[in-house]
Formats: sequence, C-alpha cells, structure tokens
Amino acid sequence: MNIPSTPFIAGEYIVKHVENRWEQRGCLDLRRAVFCAEQQVFDGDDRDAIDEQAISIAAIACVAGIAEDVVGTVRIHRVDDTGLWQGSRLAVHPHYRGAAWLGTQLIVHAVSTAHALGCTRFLATVQVQNLRLFEKLAWRQLRALSVQGRPHVLMEADLSAALYAPRLETELRFYGSARKAAA
Ligand SMILES: CC(C)(COP(=O)(O)OP(=O)(O)OC[C@H]1O[C@@H](n2cnc3c(N)ncnc32)[C@H](O)[C@@H]1OP(=O)(O)O)[C@@H](O)C(=O)NCCC(=O)NCCS
Repeated sequence: MNIPSTPFIAGEYIVKHVENRWEQRGCLDLRRAVFCAEQQVFDGDDRDAIDEQAISIAAIACVAGIAEDVVGTVRIHRVDDTGLWQGSRLAVHPHYRGAAWLGTQLIVHAVSTAHALGCTRFLATVQVQNLRLFEKLAWRQLRALSVQGRPHVLMEADLSAALYAPRLETELRFYGSARKAAA
C-alpha cells in the first residue's frame, strides 16, 4: 500500500492576540525558525525593540476544537501619533503555507485590528516573493528598499477596502481546507 508522506495539517484555526506564555513562546519559536534558520535574515535571534510595544498575533492550529500549536504569526505596532502603523514578522509554518489561507487571515486580522485602534495608514516592508499575495489583498507598492541586504518593497494597505473594515475582535475561529493534506 502506498501511504502518502504528507504531514498532518489541522483543519481548524484560531487567529488571536497573544495573551499567554505558550502563545508568545510559540510565536517567537516560529519567527526564529523562519527568519533565522530558514531564511537566515537574522543571526540566531530576530527579536528587537519593537517587540516591547507591538501587538503580537498568533494563528493556532486546533485539534478537536482545542488549541494545539502556533503555526503562524505577525506583529503590529503604532509608529507615531499620526495614525501610522506597521506590520512585521509575518510567518507561517512551512507545512501550512498555501494550505489554509493563514497568511491571508493574519494580514487581514493585523490591518483591521490596527484600523480599529486608530490607524490611518498601514505599511509593511514586504519580501519580493510575496508581492503578489499582498497585491491580491489590496496593498500597493510604494518603493523598493533593502532590509538586511535583501530586496523588499515598502507597501501600503488600502484601508478603504471592505476586508480591512475596523474590527476589534481579539479572537477569530475559522476552518480552512487542508489542500496539502489532500494532495
Ligand atoms: C508569506 C507567507 C506568510 C504566506 O503565508 P500562507 O499561509 O502561505 O499564505 P496564504 O495561504 O494566505 O496564501 C498563499 C498562497 O496559497 C494559496 N492558498 C492558500 N490556501 C489555499 C487552499 N486551501 N487551496 C488553494 N490555494 C490556497 C493562496 O491563494 C496564495 O496563492 P498565491 O501565492 O498564488 O497568491 C508564508 O509563505 C511564509 O511564512 N513565508 C516565509 C516567511 C516570509 O516570507 N514572511 C513574509 C515576509 S514579507
């Protein structure tokens, strides 16, 4: 019998603001795995001063309705008093990429949360391979720049887009089709 070697992928998720230690640990571990080990953008530790003030958001895979593992994360912070906010450290566990819309859910949750908190302009520096994903989600390119010696594009979310309507829910549960699990 030919048993597929695809990893288990949960079908139920929570996107929520981080509010306890294991969620925080899970986000930091995922960031380190993605930005230090996988992409080698940072050497060993990607934390910085922004973590002190940022709202950290986690995508959590659930099994039988119970939170099991952090499989995605992003953080948002208020840059200044003009209404400018920024998103950063968007990461999804490799097994879950392109499988359950987690990147999309994290971006939408991040921007609509900031919008509800008074954001009038939301920016992010986006790695070039992700431009299409952001453009599909109503972001526009502002200018090319280099971050840690790598090509990025400064992008701005269209806050008038319906998907970014101000929303202050700190927790959102949803079901995603596990495309890779079915492959
Ligand atoms: C960028 C990143 C966060 C995107 O996360 P993701 O969960 O794969 O994002 P989504 O699933 O919402 O969308 C990715 C693609 O999968 C597709 N997809 C998602 N779920 C799907 C499903 N169930 N069936 C079919 N297609 C699906 C989307 O249409 C999208 O396609 P596109 O690339 O053609 O636009 C992830 O690739 C990642 O962590 N990369 C490494 C770190 C990184 O680059 N961070 C961003 C720095 S700017």
